[in-house]
Amino acid sequence: MTADHRLTLNVNGTAYDCEVESRMTLADCLREKLDLTGTHLGCEHGVCGACTVIIDGAAVRSCLMFAVQAQGVKITTVEGLSDGDTLSDLQQAFHDNFALQCGFCTPGFLTTAEAYLAENPSPTRAQVQSAISGNICRCTGYVPIIDAILDTAKQRQEGGK
Ligand code: FES
Ligand code: FES
Repeated sequence: MTADHRLTLNVNGTAYDCEVESRMTLADCLREKLDLTGTHLGCEHGVCGACTVIIDGAAVRSCLMFAVQAQGVKITTVEGLSDGDTLSDLQQAFHDNFALQCGFCTPGFLTTAEAYLAENPSPTRAQVQSAISGNICRCTGYVPIIDAILDTAKQRQEGGK
């Protein structure tokens, strides 16, 4: 029998109370307990990157982490990137560059790229390729995704963000 735990998780600036079993992953907790279904599950074993969220500034695969490990950290999911219905600059760049088709992988790319750009604001194309090499997309061929990330970096540099 698995023990239940009462948690308070800080997600997108909001404190969520929930009760989880010891074995529940953070990904399942976000989707099933907090109804934040923007975080997607593909492989469920750390390979595809679809479940990536930002934890204390770092891109983390939420399928590889237990929810109980996420107490006391700051979690940002794809829902936290936009301002209500207003897309973030990175999301807008994905839209403008046609960097998504089915969209299943997109939340993971956005969170991965957002965490990466925060640490590396003016990357080269090769660096962006490397940064997203752990995320799988079946649709786009990756080129538009790389273009979108580079466009965002350029805009932020020009805008002094
Ligand atoms: Fe987590 Fe694929 S669902 S890496
Ligand atoms: Fe379909 Fe990436 S847009 S998997």
